Amino acid sequence: NNYVAILAGGIGSKFYPMGKEHKPQQFRDIFNTGKTLLQSTFERFRGFIPKDHIYIVTSREYVSLVQEQLPNLPLENIVAEPERKNTAASVAYISFKLKKLNPKANLIIAPSDHLIRDQEIFVESCFKALEFTEQQDAFVTLGIEPDHASSAYGYIRRGYQRTEDGVFKAIQFTEKPEKSQAEKFLEEDNVYWNSGILIGRAADLADAFWIHASHIYDLFRDVYEFLNTEKEAEVIEYVYTNCRSISIDYALMEKANNVYIIPSKFEWNDLGTWTRAWESYSQENYAFAYQLPKNSKSDADAKKMEIVELENMVIIETPETILVCKKDYLRSKKDYAINAKEIK
Ligand code: GDD
Repeated sequence: NNYVAILAGGIGSKFYPMGKEHKPQQFRDIFNTGKTLLQSTFERFRGFIPKDHIYIVTSREYVSLVQEQLPNLPLENIVAEPERKNTAASVAYISFKLKKLNPKANLIIAPSDHLIRDQEIFVESCFKALEFTEQQDAFVTLGIEPDHASSAYGYIRRGYQRTEDGVFKAIQFTEKPEKSQAEKFLEEDNVYWNSGILIGRAADLADAFWIHASHIYDLFRDVYEFLNTEKEAEVIEYVYTNCRSISIDYALMEKANNVYIIPSKFEWNDLGTWTRAWESYSQENYAFAYQLPKNSKSDADAKKMEIVELENMVIIETPETILVCKKDYLRSKKDYAINAKEIK
């Protein structure tokens, strides 16, 4: 009964100046590993969830990219959204679909553009969450110990009473707090970042919209009988035209009172900014430059960039722009990534 839904419909707008010029970061090989972030995410789950139980939820315009990058994935496992209405709509869509397909479906929802190391610990956290949600109407998030006061994440305060081995009740969920609030959270020992990985039964997730976002619930309920039929694409147009745009964190996670957290120890980086990408790439204080991969069509291939004695600076080159700035500037921009190259 275990399923995975990978959300791969973001536009990567955080990655200026790369953002809209090219395909978003989940479809790119950020660190020249030979795999795009989507492919790595898929493989991470493929290790413990059967392929035909893994779904990719993405915009219609990216369907061919997903097919290209995951050629062995059954086509019906690509869930195409007619327009971008943020993650609440994506979660509702896949939850209603799976609820209909298998009323016992137990679902991991995951972003497509994160870097996760320590696969064993990751798998252990996922199974612990799945076992927990199998037994009860609960939503579990995997929590990450914060290391700086970022306004880019959700913060979860856990209660001290352990519900089950390693699973704690979340007593507060604050999405993207102001910097001053994030600084206060950082000083506390029971507050974690939301990794964006959410586990719950599809039926419970779908029903939670009834309580916390009834507008979204009503839209999907109206077309429920057509889901997983040949009429689906048509009725989903109607749903998305009328659906409001809101993230799952604001729509559900901040409001639900059955949220739990598993503080997790795997290495995690959401690569949400050039600065974070840099941190993943190197702990050193070298200058850091981004160039397009060698096989790209950029004129940059023909150029050689020489960078001398530059410290704590970032250089980002895209076909249209070369951005040179201080590393800290990008932290405040909450931004972008592509292909990293360290320059001493
Ligand atoms: N299918 C689909 N449709 N996917 C989407 C859409 C959409 O409209 N919008 C975003 N996504 C995908 C992105 O591609 C990404 O994989 C994932 O959903 C998360 O979306 P973001 O918009 O990047 O979220 P965020 O980083 O601002 O915040 C979330 O993640 C943080 C951890 O990285 C929140 O869950 C935070 O609470 C969390 O801390």
